[in-house]
Amino acid sequence: MRGNKLHKDTLVIHEGYDDKAHHGSLTTPIYQTSTFSFESAKQGELRFSGEEAGPIYSRLGNPTVHVLEERMKMLENGKGALAFGSGMAAVSTVLVHLTKSGDHILCTRGIYGCTFGLLSIMEEKYNITHDLIRMGTEEEIEKAIKPETVCIYVETPINPTMELVDLHAVVNVAKRHGLKVVVDNTFSSPYLQNPLTIGVDFVLHSATKYINGHGDVIAGLLVGNDKDEMDKIRMSAQKDYGGIISPFDAWLLIRGLKTLPVRMERHTSNAEKLLAYLKNHPLVEQVFYPFDEDNPQYEIAKRQMSAGGGLISFTIKGGRDEAQHFMDSLSLIKIAVSLGDAETLIQHPATMTHSVVPEEKRLAMGITDSLIRLSVGLENADDLLADLAGAFEKMKVTEVNTNI
Ligand SMILES: Cc1ncc(COP(=O)(O)O)c(C=O)c1O
Repeated sequence: MRGNKLHKDTLVIHEGYDDKAHHGSLTTPIYQTSTFSFESAKQGELRFSGEEAGPIYSRLGNPTVHVLEERMKMLENGKGALAFGSGMAAVSTVLVHLTKSGDHILCTRGIYGCTFGLLSIMEEKYNITHDLIRMGTEEEIEKAIKPETVCIYVETPINPTMELVDLHAVVNVAKRHGLKVVVDNTFSSPYLQNPLTIGVDFVLHSATKYINGHGDVIAGLLVGNDKDEMDKIRMSAQKDYGGIISPFDAWLLIRGLKTLPVRMERHTSNAEKLLAYLKNHPLVEQVFYPFDEDNPQYEIAKRQMSAGGGLISFTIKGGRDEAQHFMDSLSLIKIAVSLGDAETLIQHPATMTHSVVPEEKRLAMGITDSLIRLSVGLENADDLLADLAGAFEKMKVTEVNTNI
């Protein structure tokens, strides 16, 4: 409705909800119902035929979920949005929508472990093949396109290596070849990056992460740049596969979204402080963060993101043992997968989120045994720095002991 005229920080609070239509309730009511009664059989007929707008059954649409979808649509500058019961439900729905047996998907060389698992199932069972490639230049992308390629699937920043993919380059190639582009925008959140404005066709999120922001929901969102196509997905892939979100979880996301801008700003400022510390630590080999001036991809970051966000990856001197020892030596920072929560979380991708990826492919993605991913939370940065320093100190002590 108002959308485009509002700034993002206002939109996340007001878009898609009119309190006057809900007895003045300041917050969106939770329509915790499976079905909706009709005033007459005729009304039921009209709702089913689409001649009259209105709810029918919560798998086909729910007023609480609708507010979330409208808000997300505007936030990502899309024409339609759908909410799901998990990020993976959004990933599988869009990929099933776009492909048929015999088709080919071109993917960035790094993708979330379960997305890789889904692509492996699609290949084994339905002969929908894929290639994971470095998308460094337009030529590199162009060379990998096959006659049967139907879409390009991109993560940027890539989970967990933080490698960036130039979205303008991807869109240029896709347009030349009539391919759809899907971007997993989980790592940036809609506050820091809006791929649809660059010409991408679909953006998806694991809303479990920054959109919710409080670590208490599993959910997904898909936003598209074509209303008719999104309506089609709602009434086919989403309705028939059934991976919908519950009204209560949608409500939690509506609540979470309201603070997304302030949270992203704090995640980013905390991450910048930790980045400066990690870059100068003798036990750290390499640090990967989009808005690091020493990052060779900094120019790409500035072109498509408004700030670096809360995720930092780094390699520690040594291998798996040293990485695990470091993580075990932390006290405030929690060892957990997921990201985008108030709590700072640390994980070891090779043995956790990306353990399903065969070693050879994992290493080709840049996920070595010494790589650690840090999701910087909202705590006081000094407390986080003290925790990191304490863990490095413990490593040094052990190093000295083993050298004796
Ligand atoms: C980049 C990315 N995409 C998709 C997913 C899947 O989301 P969900 O766990 O909400 O199904 C994740 C989960 O960690 C993720 O990190």
